[in-house]
Amino acid sequence: MCGIIGYAGPREAQEVLLDGLRRLEYRGYDSAGVAIVGSDLKVFKDKGEISKLSTDMPRLAGHLGVGHTRWATCGRPSQQNAHPFLDCTGQMAVVHNGIIENHLALREKLIGEGHVFTSETDTEVLVHLMEKHYKGDLHAALKETLKDIKGTYAMVVVRADCDELVAARKENPLVVGLGVGENIVASDVTAMLNYTNKALYIMDGETVVLRPDKVTIYDHDGVPVQRDPVVVTWTVDDAKRGGFEHYMLKEIFEQPTAIHNSLLGSLDELEAGSLMIDHEPASVKLVACGTSYHASMVGKYIIEALAKIPTTVELASEYRYMPNTEESPLTVLLTQSGETADTLAAAREARRRGCPTLAVTNVVGSTIAREVDRVFYTKAGPEIGVAATKTYTTQLMAMYLLGIRLGQLCHTMGRDEVRELTSELRAMPRYIGKVLDRGPEVEAATEMLVSARDAFYLGRNINYPTMLEGALKLKEISYIHAEGYAAGELKHGPLALLDASTPVVAACIKDHTYAKMLANISEVAARDSPILAIGIEGDSDLAAVADTTVSVPAVNPILSPVPLTVMVQLISYYTARKRGCPIDKPRNLAKSVTVD
Ligand code: F6R
Repeated sequence: MCGIIGYAGPREAQEVLLDGLRRLEYRGYDSAGVAIVGSDLKVFKDKGEISKLSTDMPRLAGHLGVGHTRWATCGRPSQQNAHPFLDCTGQMAVVHNGIIENHLALREKLIGEGHVFTSETDTEVLVHLMEKHYKGDLHAALKETLKDIKGTYAMVVVRADCDELVAARKENPLVVGLGVGENIVASDVTAMLNYTNKALYIMDGETVVLRPDKVTIYDHDGVPVQRDPVVVTWTVDDAKRGGFEHYMLKEIFEQPTAIHNSLLGSLDELEAGSLMIDHEPASVKLVACGTSYHASMVGKYIIEALAKIPTTVELASEYRYMPNTEESPLTVLLTQSGETADTLAAAREARRRGCPTLAVTNVVGSTIAREVDRVFYTKAGPEIGVAATKTYTTQLMAMYLLGIRLGQLCHTMGRDEVRELTSELRAMPRYIGKVLDRGPEVEAATEMLVSARDAFYLGRNINYPTMLEGALKLKEISYIHAEGYAAGELKHGPLALLDASTPVVAACIKDHTYAKMLANISEVAARDSPILAIGIEGDSDLAAVADTTVSVPAVNPILSPVPLTVMVQLISYYTARKRGCPIDKPRNLAKSVTVD
């Protein structure tokens, strides 16, 4: 998974490409490069982040070019393995996001034909195939190249003696930004918002020829496709850091707005009985990866509590191996990016099994949105920090809305109950504001985590997944090994690991799990582990057993994952900050995982 970009227009391509790459950096940041057509084709690429590339790069004049920011999958991060790749003549350059599955066989064949390879990557075969097939028509060469390869791709090709870029897409995102006398092609719209808000989403199997004044899309058979552009509502400011030290902190603080926007309109549809689904399903299956999987786990509690419909949760990467035991469950795929390869594969498998599919995603025009029966869009706005924050809490909103909708359809919720819960949902931005106000207090409380090597996160019932999410956030941005556990499970093994050097973060709110959680916290205290408890304001019993407490406002227990999540996000953020970690770009990670 990587970020790619191409530009054709009157501006200096170098500026546009670097600006776009900075915005695509969340997709990968171990190496980067650009190729620009001036008097000839020049490439500059290196290991490291875009900021380093921009500082080190000489001025490359020209108005046509391609750029790439990499998250290594095939070949370690290095200057040699960075994109763009040049053909043997130095006339042509390719950037690619995806995996060429038959690259070893192709490489061997091409070497036999005299091509010289300079990298360990799968991508390099693309540029040599382009060279082999080029007979004066770049688009024709691209079509021939695509016939030879197996795998997935979003790719852009530039050639020194052509005034156009050609691009292709299969299972990796690609979007064209239509400007006035200039056009951009990139992995995602954030790369082009500075120049245009008119986007043409490219579909699987399509190819594109892009000139400054014209963009032509071709279908798989080479027939031109007419498509109206979509006007993107995200703005450049949405994707900027806006005075915050990190995108992650900005995005944590944006949650009241993100939640408000995600509910807006949907609550009216809920009232009108037209939200998300029309029929009562016999069962529900929620499928996702990572943080979105945790939202699905919370979703299971919500749906079973509100609608009493049997609900299962599956990791998207495991879904394909599971036998089909239920009669066409409503299959809900949660993916903020809409591009996660495992979740897309699960969506396709669910359709093959004849299941009705609903996607919950944050990205309009994303691949998943085009592959399912129904889509619910969260409206979190662009999320740049690699660690998901506002997209998670807005996914939780989607789960509450789905739960209530199912409750209406199954007649398990009366009008009054629906009204009561929706009015509490409307108040959620205010409650989150109260958690955010506690920033300095939370920062001080994280002292016990800062030098830990391992930590445990404990919760029960609906807040068991909340604490799994807390542990995931801590490990990905602070590099502290953290385990989320159902608090009742502690005594079945992990208690052996607790000692004074292993802090425990525990969620203990005043619901039906309260007494048991207090007991679990006491068990931990007896093993000398430092305890950071998250409780309800003014809970003196909790304060008596924990070393430090931070508090969240009391809400209806079913909604408690929302303020608790914001609290665990702040805990991981401040811990990672004190440890001096690269919060927005943790090592080895990238935001959109388009390989399975
Ligand atoms: C963690 C994180 C990842 C993603 C996962 C799925 O902070 O962001 O665990 O949740 O890669 O991504 P989406 O939701 O885009 O399918």
